[in-house]
Amino acid sequence: MRRGVTIFILVTVVVLGFAVHSVWTLLGLLVATGREDAILRGELPAPNSGTINERPQLIPKIIHQTYINESIPVHWQGPQQSCLDLHPDYEYKLWTDKKSREFIAAEYPWFLETFDGYPYPIQRADAIRYFVLHHFGGIYIDLDDGCNRSLDPLLAYPAWVRRTLPTGISNDAMGAIPRHPFFLKAIDSLTDYNRRWPLPYITVMASTGPLFLSIIWRHYNNANPVDNARVRILFPDEYNNHPWSFFTHHLGNSWHRTDVKVIFWLGRHWLLVTFIGFAVGFTILGLIYKVFFLNKRAPGSPKLRFAFASPRMPFYRRISQKSFELDDRHQV
Ligand SMILES: *[C@@H]1O[C@H](CO)[C@@H](O)[C@H](O)[C@H]1NC(C)=O
Repeated sequence: MRRGVTIFILVTVVVLGFAVHSVWTLLGLLVATGREDAILRGELPAPNSGTINERPQLIPKIIHQTYINESIPVHWQGPQQSCLDLHPDYEYKLWTDKKSREFIAAEYPWFLETFDGYPYPIQRADAIRYFVLHHFGGIYIDLDDGCNRSLDPLLAYPAWVRRTLPTGISNDAMGAIPRHPFFLKAIDSLTDYNRRWPLPYITVMASTGPLFLSIIWRHYNNANPVDNARVRILFPDEYNNHPWSFFTHHLGNSWHRTDVKVIFWLGRHWLLVTFIGFAVGFTILGLIYKVFFLNKRAPGSPKLRFAFASPRMPFYRRISQKSFELDDRHQV
């Protein structure tokens, strides 16, 4: 019986270990605050401060946006115009489906097959932003993000992304110098992460979207990048909702579907979900233990037992009679 318990615990540890190992990066994301790379609010000049122009401008003055074609829907024209108005000295690049494909074909032909093969258009919209940031540098802004002040102060960081709560980073506003190693890693990883998951939302998030970028960010930071290789983090207060924030966020996730509602529901009830997960997991483990390692029979019931769970000689003892003899003497 004790042997049974030992084996059961070993199996449990191995199974748990495997499960934890396979989601290690995700677990790491839960505790990765990005604080050590934070763009501190104290170091950012106020919107009309005279010190803005005293800061280095490493990132080229280019704004990148993506849409299907040149006809931007009315509800996004406001946010788009706010960015154009605040940055008259920036080059503006709108990456339509056609232009994106031409760009990938011309500059990153090795990626064209993956790019064309993405089942969801939003995956191409995700991927193209990493490529143009890698190639040209500049600042990428989602069409549902408007600008609240000049982005000039953010040009001072070789690469920056935006922190999202509760975990990870987003890919809706980010900036970089050309050929920054973080975006190199991102574009280099896209092919490996091109997997299909049961839900479209997960497929998009994990293959090209914010979850993909967050995982890359975790891996990238494991190598402890220094100086210009660091990826600085814009925190929520500097992102929106305050007079000194850089952006205004307008709701409009055009690609959300029903599975998104399920995921958001799970996200809102994550404590319950975790609890149910553990309950189900332990129930299964308990059943395994009962079936394979316990050998209780009701009196008079047929003498049914699994051969390898025989109390007289468990399978692991039969493997080596010698070690059984030796071990057995030390058993209590
Ligand atoms: C742009 O795309 C939208 C959405 O698919 C479509 O309704 C519109 O006709 C397109 N405009 C042009 C000029 O192709």
